[in-house]
Amino acid sequence: MKAVTRTKYGGPEVLEVRDMPQPEPKDDEILVRVHATTVNRTDCGILTATPFPIRFFTGLFKPKSLVPGTDFAGVVVAIGEKVTNFRTGDRVWGLNDEGLASHAEYLVIKEDAAVIPIPENIDFEEAVACAEGGHYAFNFLNKVKLVEGSEVLVNGATGAIGSSALQQLKSRNIYITAVGNTKNLKLLEQLGADKVLNYEEVDFTEADDEQYDFIFDAVGKSSYSKCKKLLKRNGIYISSELGPSAENLYLPLITKIRGGKRVIFPIPIDRKRSLLHLKELFENGYLQAVIDRKYSVEEIQDAYRYVLKGQKTGSVLIVFSSDD
Ligand SMILES: NC(=O)c1ccc[n+]([C@@H]2O[C@H](COP(=O)([O-])OP(=O)(O)OC[C@H]3O[C@@H](n4cnc5c(N)ncnc54)[C@H](OP(=O)(O)O)[C@@H]3O)[C@@H](O)[C@H]2O)c1
Repeated sequence: MKAVTRTKYGGPEVLEVRDMPQPEPKDDEILVRVHATTVNRTDCGILTATPFPIRFFTGLFKPKSLVPGTDFAGVVVAIGEKVTNFRTGDRVWGLNDEGLASHAEYLVIKEDAAVIPIPENIDFEEAVACAEGGHYAFNFLNKVKLVEGSEVLVNGATGAIGSSALQQLKSRNIYITAVGNTKNLKLLEQLGADKVLNYEEVDFTEADDEQYDFIFDAVGKSSYSKCKKLLKRNGIYISSELGPSAENLYLPLITKIRGGKRVIFPIPIDRKRSLLHLKELFENGYLQAVIDRKYSVEEIQDAYRYVLKGQKTGSVLIVFSSDD
């Protein structure tokens, strides 16, 4: 099978496409033929080992896994002897943000890991495009108590996390102000934003007439100190990044002790629960895939170079095969 490989941390140039033996499923594993996977910001973090602590999960001195990739959509082509939940022919999608060796034509995954059936009305590309960003968005949003009509600002609402957050909030009838750039204003409205701010024209942190129950900086470009005045009395600030001097690691404790407005820095853990939630959103028509570009596996270095710019809209896909 064709697989992307790398033996050390580095830039996209360390990636190489090779022929490798197809993996064989153990008793509790399924073998999946991968139709599509994404190159996402987590893959970029693992590729370059940034930030450093990521190495505690992915390998201290070199990547533990020869093959990169964190998500997939495909078809079960073989099952281990003890597998009971899947059959060959099942259409499935899965995620493991610590590494899943999914940048390959085939992969094996334990049947009880984060792998679930793809909803019938959704194709492989749509499913995989929503996995990684949707997982983080779900885990960031579910730490905040919101009610119908709560006012939320999403910065970076065009990214994989932001565009999913926007749709997940909309499914709960939240009033959303979404921040993006000129080329994506229409998209933000279409995904459910009630109000759109163009960061090329205005800096949302400088507004003096707006207040929110929750500010979610999905691209991590702001800071709590700049956003604090925009929060209502018990408002919550979450950023997807560590922030200046990694302040989002200690501000949750300080703001909790002080009371009132608070910073939270959630650690996304339960991947299967995220996938099940996303499946339900798909089935109820609340989620649509936002796909920026598609690459072949041979173009893997270009795909990573593009994603590393931090300017993609939604997801970037590697497509192995588009047939069902
Ligand atoms: N904490 C965690 O566990 C975790 C996990 C995964 C990812 N992350 C981090 O979360 C961030 C977002 O991830 P992602 O996958 O959604 O990234 P992404 O898909 O690359 O999206 C980032 C989006 O932000 C937009 N953007 C760039 N500059 C902006 C600005 N100044 N104001 C508003 N929007 C801006 C970009 O579009 P334009 O440039 O076209 O505007 C792009 O659409 C990344 O920094 C990533 O490292 C954190």
